[in-house]
Amino acid sequence: MNVIFLGPPGAGKGTQAVRVCERLGIPQISTGDILRRAIKEQTPTGLAAKAYIDRGDLVPDSVVIDIVRERLAQPDCQKGYILDGFPRTVPQAQALAEFATIDAVIDIEVSDEALTQRLSGRRVCPACGATYHVSRLSGDACEKCGAKLIQRDDDKAETVLSRLAVYHAQTAPLIDFYSEKGLLRTVDGAAPMDDCFAAILKALGEAE
Ligand code: AP5
Ligand code: MG
Repeated sequence: MNVIFLGPPGAGKGTQAVRVCERLGIPQISTGDILRRAIKEQTPTGLAAKAYIDRGDLVPDSVVIDIVRERLAQPDCQKGYILDGFPRTVPQAQALAEFATIDAVIDIEVSDEALTQRLSGRRVCPACGATYHVSRLSGDACEKCGAKLIQRDDDKAETVLSRLAVYHAQTAPLIDFYSEKGLLRTVDGAAPMDDCFAAILKALGEAE
C-alpha cells in the first residue's frame, strides 16, 4: 500500500508513520528526516537545503522531487511505503503522480494552537530518531537508546510560526487536490496517540 501522510507541522505524521510502518512492514519515507541527515553529513543537497529549513521555508520542489523519485526506486519500496511530509506543494503532487500510484492520503488534522504547544515541547533523539514531548518525559535521555535528546533547530517559536504559515499557503491546497481524486481520509490528530493510530489503521482498512 502506497500512502501519503499529510498534515501541518507537529500533527503527528512522524509519530504515527513509525507505528503504522512497523505494523504494515513497509518503510517510512520522511523528506524532513532525509534533508536533516543530508545537512548533518554536509552533502551538496544538505548545504543547499539548510537555509530554507532554518527559515521554516520549503526546500525547492526540484530538490525534494529528485530525492523521493530516487528513494521510491529502491527495492524496499516495492511492497509499499508511507510518504511523511511529501508532497507539500501541488507541483510536488503532480510530479509524484508521474512516478508513483498512491492508494490513500491520510490528513492528520490539529489546530494551530495545539501545534505550537507540541512543537515547542518536542524533543528528538539524534541517534535513533525517536520523538518525545517534554510533558511525557522524566529525564533528557532517549527511552529507546539512551542518547541525550535535543530540540530541533526549526522548533524555535518564530520558525514554527513561519512553518505554519507556509503550510496554510502551500500545503493545505493538497487537501482539495486529493479529495477530488477520492483518496483523502481525515483523522483527528488532536486525539490521544493510540486513538489516532487506531483511526489511521481503520482509514487504511487494516484491522487493529
Ligand atoms: P518535516 O521534518 O517534515 O517537518 P514538518 O512537516 O514540519 O512536521 P514535523 O516533523 O515537525 O511534525 P510531525 O507531523 O512529524 O509531528 P511529530 O510526530 O514529530 O520538515 C522539516 C522541514 O524540511 C520543512 O520545514 C521544509 O523546510 C523541509 N521539507 C521537508 N519536506 C519537504 C518537502 N516535501 N518539500 C519542501 N521542503 C520540505 O509530533 C510532534 C510533537 O507532538 C511530538 O512532540 C510528539 O510527541 C507530539 N505528538 C504527536 N502526536 C500527538 C498526539 N496525538 N497527542 C499529543 N502529542 C502528540
Ligand atoms: Mg516529522
